[in-house]
Amino acid sequence: MIPFNNLGFVFKHFGSIIYSKPILEDLCLFLHGFTDKESVLDIGAGTGVMSEFAYRCNDKLKFTALDPAEGMLKYAPAYLEVHVGVAEALPFEESSFDAVFMGESLHHFNNPNMAFKEVSRVLKKGGKLFIYDFDSGTFLGKSICFMEKLLGEPANFYKPNILKELLEEYGFVVKVNHYKWRYTISAYLQE
Ligand SMILES: C[S@@+](CC[C@H](N)C(=O)[O-])C[C@H]1O[C@@H](n2cnc3c(N)ncnc32)[C@H](O)[C@@H]1O
Repeated sequence: MIPFNNLGFVFKHFGSIIYSKPILEDLCLFLHGFTDKESVLDIGAGTGVMSEFAYRCNDKLKFTALDPAEGMLKYAPAYLEVHVGVAEALPFEESSFDAVFMGESLHHFNNPNMAFKEVSRVLKKGGKLFIYDFDSGTFLGKSICFMEKLLGEPANFYKPNILKELLEEYGFVVKVNHYKWRYTISAYLQE
């Protein structure tokens, strides 16, 4: 297993390197139209790298971060309300959030299906989901998957179009953007 609990310092200082410009543009586009005080949940937030980028697009939102590794969360910025927990059992009431993010975290979840069920429970109807991860259909994506399996990680990587179909089963309308070995998904939960 990757010892995330001991990697907070590393992610705080170097975690943003893996976010490229088009991915950040997608994130800002995703947040376009959000009004003040709408609530967003960053799942597998780590030190809050994705929320920090989102904050630069819109600093009026109410940010919540969830991660099992306290050693990551302790580096989160003060405007993030932090919760220790896992994606498969979200400690929130139904319809609590206007949007959910997952930045390079989905492939670490032990049970992505359970996580999607939970996301559709805590999202309001019409709520939005943004995912950024690595494409297992590409050479680099496959290589990362192989290495993570060696490290004992769940390595639940997807080909983005397969993930699209899976999310549709949970009631999402999905748009995929491909960036070579990476992809983003912008989706919303149907009313
Ligand atoms: C590669 S880090 C990404 C952190 C952050 N989103 C970023 O972009 O820097 C993956 C994170 O997923 C978290 N994680 C692992 N299993 C999880 C689970 N079942 N539910 C939620 N988060 C999980 C890890 O603790 C870790 O902080």
